[in-house]
Amino acid sequence: MHTRTTVRTAIAACAMSLSILAAAPLHAEPAAIAARNDGMDIRQGSLRIRVLALTDDVLRVTLSTNGALPEDASWAVPAGVRARRVGVQAGPTGFATRSLRVDVQDGRLVVSDLAGKVISADAIDPVKLDGHAFTLRKAMPQSEHYFGLGDKTGGLDRRGKSFINWNTDAFGFTSADDPIYKSIPFFIGVGGAGGSYGVFLDNTYRSWFDFGHREDGVLAFGAPDGPTDYYLIHGPSTAEVVRRYTDLTGKAPLVPRWALGYQQSRYSYMSGDELRQVVARLRAERVPTDVVWLDIDWQDRNRPFTVDRKAFPDMTGLIRDLGHQGVKVITISDLHVARAAGQGHAPYDTGVQADAFVRNPDGSTYVAPVWPGDSVFPDFTQARTRDWWGSLFAEQVRMGVAGSWNDMNEPAIFNTPTKTMPLDTRHRIDSDDFAPRTADHREIHNVYGMQNTRATYDGLRKLAPGERAVVMTRASYAGGQRYAVTWTGDNLATWDHLKLSVQQIINLGLSGFSYGAADVSGFAGGPSPDLLTRWFEIGAFYPLFRNHSAKGTPRVEPWVDGAAHLRIRRRFVEERYKLMPYLYALAEQNARTGDPILRPVFYDYPSALNLPCAGQDAWTFTLGRALLVLPPPHPESPQGYRTCLPEGGWFDYWTGLPAGTPVPAAQDGAIQSATQATGEAHAGGSFVNETPRLDHLPVYVRAGTILPRQAVVQSTADTPRGPLMLDVYPGPDCTGELYVDDGHSLAFEKGGYLRQTVRCTVRPDGVAIEFGPREGSFAPWWREVAVTVHGWQGKADVRAGERKVASRVDATARTVGFTLDDAAQAGAVLVRRP
Ligand code: NOJ
Repeated sequence: MHTRTTVRTAIAACAMSLSILAAAPLHAEPAAIAARNDGMDIRQGSLRIRVLALTDDVLRVTLSTNGALPEDASWAVPAGVRARRVGVQAGPTGFATRSLRVDVQDGRLVVSDLAGKVISADAIDPVKLDGHAFTLRKAMPQSEHYFGLGDKTGGLDRRGKSFINWNTDAFGFTSADDPIYKSIPFFIGVGGAGGSYGVFLDNTYRSWFDFGHREDGVLAFGAPDGPTDYYLIHGPSTAEVVRRYTDLTGKAPLVPRWALGYQQSRYSYMSGDELRQVVARLRAERVPTDVVWLDIDWQDRNRPFTVDRKAFPDMTGLIRDLGHQGVKVITISDLHVARAAGQGHAPYDTGVQADAFVRNPDGSTYVAPVWPGDSVFPDFTQARTRDWWGSLFAEQVRMGVAGSWNDMNEPAIFNTPTKTMPLDTRHRIDSDDFAPRTADHREIHNVYGMQNTRATYDGLRKLAPGERAVVMTRASYAGGQRYAVTWTGDNLATWDHLKLSVQQIINLGLSGFSYGAADVSGFAGGPSPDLLTRWFEIGAFYPLFRNHSAKGTPRVEPWVDGAAHLRIRRRFVEERYKLMPYLYALAEQNARTGDPILRPVFYDYPSALNLPCAGQDAWTFTLGRALLVLPPPHPESPQGYRTCLPEGGWFDYWTGLPAGTPVPAAQDGAIQSATQATGEAHAGGSFVNETPRLDHLPVYVRAGTILPRQAVVQSTADTPRGPLMLDVYPGPDCTGELYVDDGHSLAFEKGGYLRQTVRCTVRPDGVAIEFGPREGSFAPWWREVAVTVHGWQGKADVRAGERKVASRVDATARTVGFTLDDAAQAGAVLVRRP
């Protein structure tokens, strides 16, 4: 029960300001703060603001002017999550949770930590209303930088820019075009007094965000219609914000391990024979590969849920044969259904029977051209339509298709200047906790693609209940990570886009979409051999690694530019496969915590935000906490460059030597670092000078890492030969995580996995390695663990408990290596200088 207390003392301070808060359309009337057990209500005239504490760190703010708060329903935040509450302590001007203070100060909502440091504060005139449209204005401190908003272009940091959320088919977008494919109305403020925080505006209309572009010092956001409903998420670390945001909107489910392998696509491989040839060549050239993709030409006349039987006479046989070579097949199934009345086209006929299609305002079915010609469009806002759509995948599942590609789901419409449906088309919402009602496309547009992938994902899960479902989408909305992985659409084969791709994937990861990819090579245009090689090098560290290109462009499979380029490209693909135990453990960590796989450097190294190398141009990144990738700031230029290592020590990934150790001359074929430390130090770490070399991508390992790796395989379906490799890079807080399961089923949810933490401690006489207890019932593939301790000098004595273990010291590599029987499992190993 709430107690309504009109807070007289606060009124003097609040009355004038809340009238400002209400801005022009509202009258200056006494403001009242009504305490609630779980937050507060603020009333002033017809303006009503409710602030609820969902947790001690997550607030929900809703606002209305007509007395009734907006409908409590969401496509992004499940009902059970929205219903969470914690008790708060009421005070004269607001309330406190166990970590936040929320006050109305001078009519502005101010959220601070318990030490009084401001996390987020309203600006003057914090609310502006204009008909159904609203604008919310927040103060924008000088020190703050902004990230998130999904795949948007415009560099890494959103500061100083303005963005619109409207899912758009953006073929050939430039590095400044906006809007593009996705709408994730969530940003993270980093660098402010109270630490990192997030704001998620749960409004599906054409919302917008302005980070001081229109008005210096003001961060504004709003929408032309729909609920004024946002969540404020406290950190103070960026990682805590992302974890809490994904507590709200959901975690991306763990993908099957094969989805982390190399993937070969093309618009289009035109026949089963061509696909077999591509796979045969990948195997002959020994380029490890897990997936090949079939684009629209696998279908009859581009009609989803058909097969071009001439070109693909035996899909089941094709998929089976490729499967024997360790290669899965993903097929495209776009959402448009061919309007093929009276032709026995089941998706159309059953859709008509199910009354599944989006309507015009006059009640007729909306018809528009896409790939199959005239098409109709499922109304994915209805649970029953989603069920029907999901059932259409039955034949593909029977054929053995491994996953589904949902493209064009902004939705893209041909031959119309808006590139999408008319805004007055009608969706008959009947789903979740929305009141059943008819909504127009203005409200549904941005969630249409997300609900398309939800239907596909749920359908695949139902049809193959024991398996993890893989769906890739182009369009989505906040929370869409629960159903699909994504890629950045129709990029260009330019150096600019290579850099942009990393910035997009970083911001996608911060926005919940941890599985981001960009077409390696650039979709349109055709890359130079050097660009394609660099793209392979960078793509090898993307969360998903898919080579894809447009019809009519030059081919971009790994071998197209001759043996020298192929050698480099293959080596990077192989390196990804070596890193598979690490990558898979990151994927699993992401499923539990929401921590992105590919991250901005400041995610784990907050002081990196202030490094001199962290400018707007930056596209350095980390893969998990352990690996730091430092691509050349101008990848097209052969000029030397200076870059920064964040705080803490680092090892060169390729040589295994401490960063900055002079490197012996390159040997033929071996990857050698071009790195030389300058010896200069800055506040956070050290500078390194790099001389770009096409065959080299600077990668560093954090001192304090235990990195699991394996021998190269041609497919994740193969069991690696030899031991699990554990590279120990001694340093502070030294840990590594082993995670393994069967790689494809849901048995891990019932204990069918193995998790083990390994730690190391630097001692005056060496290093102690501690294998923690194993969790779960899964038996790993390895029998032995080969440990390499880096940065080692002098002789070594290795003991597992009391037992002496044979070891090899390599003075040049500065390592000591030894092999443990996996049966040893938990326990301590001491590596000492005798
Ligand atoms: C547009 C997609 O973005 C692209 O990747 C695909 O190849 C074409 N549609 C054809 O399906």
